[in-house]
Amino acid sequence: MKNKALFDEYAKDILTHELFLETKKSCSHGSITIHDHSIAVAALAFSMAESIGGLDERCVVRAGLLHDFFLYEWHVPGIRYLKHGWAHPAIAAKKAREVFGISDKEYSCIKTHMWPWTLFSIPVCREGWVVSLADKIIALKETLFCRRRKYRYC
Ligand SMILES: [Fe+2]
Ligand SMILES: [Fe+2]
Repeated sequence: MKNKALFDEYAKDILTHELFLETKKSCSHGSITIHDHSIAVAALAFSMAESIGGLDERCVVRAGLLHDFFLYEWHVPGIRYLKHGWAHPAIAAKKAREVFGISDKEYSCIKTHMWPWTLFSIPVCREGWVVSLADKIIALKETLFCRRRKYRYC
């Protein structure tokens, strides 16, 4: 990341919000919390946007931070667990809009970040592709190298 101060400026209100801090309580992949996973995705997406140039960097930071802002524990066995993969992007986008008043482009990036899992919900802008790719890279890294079980359900 070349411009950490800019990243912090775009992220500040989300990182300090009490509902975003709730994401520290549930895990994403392996022993990584959704909080830490989301920051890692936002940081990678921002670095990718810096390298590519010409992208809405504020959008990728905010969509990266909020792409998994669904606010429920998904590792509990049951119907929610089974449909989590394709259902959570729309839930996260809706909650992010309610709490943070995100832009339409940020909403779209969040809603499409799980493509191709969400077959017909495809990124429609370059920022969306960046967030989706950053999420996949970080998720793969966490799945392969962060397997220490820390929480009951994960
Ligand atoms: Fe996700
Ligand atoms: Fe994610």
